[in-house]
Amino acid sequence: MYKNLKNTDVFKKRVLVRVDLNIPIGDNLKIDKSEIWRLEAIIPTLKYLIKQKSKIILISHLGRPKEKKLSLKSVCNSLSKLLRKKISFSETLNVKKTIELMNFGDILLLENIRFDSREEKNSDSLAKELADLADIFVNEAFSVSHREHASIVGIPKYLDSCIGFLFEKEIDELNKVLKNFKRPLVAIIGGNKISTKIKVINKFLNISDKVLIGGALANTIFYSQGVDMSDSLVEKIDFNIDLDNKKLFLPQDFGIWDNNVVKYSDKVQGKALDIGPKSIDLFCSAIKSAKTIVWNGPLGLYTQKPFDKSSLEITKAIIKSKAYSVVGGGDTVEFLRKIKKDKKFNHISTGGGAMLNYLANERLAGLDAL
Ligand code: 3PG
Repeated sequence: MYKNLKNTDVFKKRVLVRVDLNIPIGDNLKIDKSEIWRLEAIIPTLKYLIKQKSKIILISHLGRPKEKKLSLKSVCNSLSKLLRKKISFSETLNVKKTIELMNFGDILLLENIRFDSREEKNSDSLAKELADLADIFVNEAFSVSHREHASIVGIPKYLDSCIGFLFEKEIDELNKVLKNFKRPLVAIIGGNKISTKIKVINKFLNISDKVLIGGALANTIFYSQGVDMSDSLVEKIDFNIDLDNKKLFLPQDFGIWDNNVVKYSDKVQGKALDIGPKSIDLFCSAIKSAKTIVWNGPLGLYTQKPFDKSSLEITKAIIKSKAYSVVGGGDTVEFLRKIKKDKKFNHISTGGGAMLNYLANERLAGLDAL
């Protein structure tokens, strides 16, 4: 069992906190207000540490520096505004003296840890260097904890470590759809990449009552069966899912974009971009009787009307069902926030890959490291 923040003595200690400040940043380096929910989610832990008069040293990544080198400086300002407290910023890891001079309750944010190539290599020297800055390590970055990176799995080797409030909540909520849930449990899995979802589909075929599959995942499944999916997005990979399992529900028809015309049909000519009306009815009736629902991945191209139809209808059906609902995945959450329905769900996970990993394996590299 891992330690949590409440059971860890952080009073007047130097506390190194791994958070996930990875939020979308526009080309003008401006942060859209609607994107700060990931920052809001870590505020309770920060407020607690301030009250405990800890010296708080924050580590985070931002984006993938191999694609674009983004500084955390602008996120530092947003977090500081949100917390209504000054947060100092350091471009280097050479901060021992700075930390010595910090007052209790002060916060220092270190520059994007992925700028240091040792982070993603899970280098011991980086883990030691970071651990050397503090007395306690708090992992508050559930959403990155499926990654074996130095700031996730390396630091706990060298420091007394625990998870933060958000991390604890995420695990509690995901456990509600993995253990002791009320039946029927319905899993809804959409999105593009079946390669990232095979394990989670198999897990829910095992423990749940119904698994509803939409999005390009369904295209890939049909394609693997030799169905002509025309120009639809498919992944040409081998996968192992029992397609005869009675719990598995696949779309019966599609919303199709063909020669600049939207069509609904069970045969695809052009691009299948959503599930069709028959499938929406089928999925909604499964949702109606559910007592517990877990959803990851939109069922259609939600950014383009009318291919947001199934995701909209499924959202309405979940809210109406009054089932215990847990949702995650970057695109699904973006969609729910856009239509202002995110608050209607029991839990919105801050994790995409991490949520899938935990649901599939009931463990995370970051938790194992503790
Ligand atoms: C996320 O946004 O899901 C996390 O911050 C992890 O980001 P990554 O996929 O770049 O590791």
